[in-house]
Amino acid sequence: MPRNPARLYRALLSRAGDALSTPDDAATRSALYRLLRTPPERDPPELTAVLKELDLGRSYARNHLLSLGAWPDDVAREVEEGLPLRVGRRLARLSEEERNAVRVDARSDRDGTWGQRVARAIERRRVLAAAPAKTAPDGWLPPSETPDLSPAPPGEAWRFPVVAERERRAEALHAALVGAILARWAEPGDAVVDLTAGTGTVGLVAHARGLRCWSSDVTPGAPFVHRMDATDVRFGRGLTPGCAELVFLHPPTYYAWVRDRPAGSVEGREGYAALVAEMIVHAVPVVRPGGLLVVIGRPVREGGVVHTAIGELQRELEEAGTTLVGYHLGVDERGSEDWHVLVGRTARAAG
Ligand SMILES: C[S@@+](CC[C@H](N)C(=O)[O-])C[C@H]1O[C@@H](n2cnc3c(N)ncnc32)[C@H](O)[C@@H]1O
Repeated sequence: MPRNPARLYRALLSRAGDALSTPDDAATRSALYRLLRTPPERDPPELTAVLKELDLGRSYARNHLLSLGAWPDDVAREVEEGLPLRVGRRLARLSEEERNAVRVDARSDRDGTWGQRVARAIERRRVLAAAPAKTAPDGWLPPSETPDLSPAPPGEAWRFPVVAERERRAEALHAALVGAILARWAEPGDAVVDLTAGTGTVGLVAHARGLRCWSSDVTPGAPFVHRMDATDVRFGRGLTPGCAELVFLHPPTYYAWVRDRPAGSVEGREGYAALVAEMIVHAVPVVRPGGLLVVIGRPVREGGVVHTAIGELQRELEEAGTTLVGYHLGVDERGSEDWHVLVGRTARAAG
């Protein structure tokens, strides 16, 4: 008995066509839609026999298999080749051009099954499509008018889906982890600044959660990210002292920094610690008094050696005059990636 949904759909059409004596597939499909909407006791015995023979539930046949008949051929073919039905359904809603772009994106992702890669590519497209491509004239990404207000996950250690290899190489955060941080620490209407924005995950998620966001990076990875060195913060282009309730700093990991270390900087751990310290010192004036500085680090294990930098992050946060008020661990579902989130509160204004 074929259990692949595309083959099951074809088997259903063929057997039901014979049993109901319909002239073609289109007529069989509409007869099945009609019959499967009525109570089961009204089913003609021929249909009951077909469903029994194929070991098919009525609601699965009506709600899942029959919809396949309306999908574009390329999507039906992929389902036949093993694409899960729920991913096929999302793919089928896209235009041909969008489907092709999703496939190109999924091919460049090497992590997991084809279905997982296509699902991630569709999700990336959805998040990007929902966000404005550019900042408003004031330099900020405006908030979504229909914000996602889902609450933070419980506890202090959070699970999040596996990050695709490509994003892992770019050291991008998973949107679910950013969502959890913002749900826990930001209030509706807050302004968020991200000084190491990379691909702009914080900005995109802040937008989706109804927050304003200003993003920058030395190497901007999205059109709404301004170019700026976080060790030399220059106010302007919408960035003003004390403008943000939350400032994010997600420095490169030690090994990424070693790889791309700017010419002339101090080598080794000392040089890395100096970079992090400089970033934290420059970020504090951007936070409004009593606001939060969120610093994110990931331990890196390479060549049998682990470099955490978490202690350094905490020390630098405290030396910059903030009080550590939050510490979270974000771990991916495979337990292979761990993000450490430190939240420091700046001093409140006197009086
Ligand atoms: C860990 S990645 C951040 C990834 C980002 N959160 C995302 O989700 O895509 C670190 C980023 O810091 C940037 N970076 C490195 N040195 C910097 C500096 N001095 N000033 C600003 N950004 C810097 C890198 O270009 C990189 O995009």
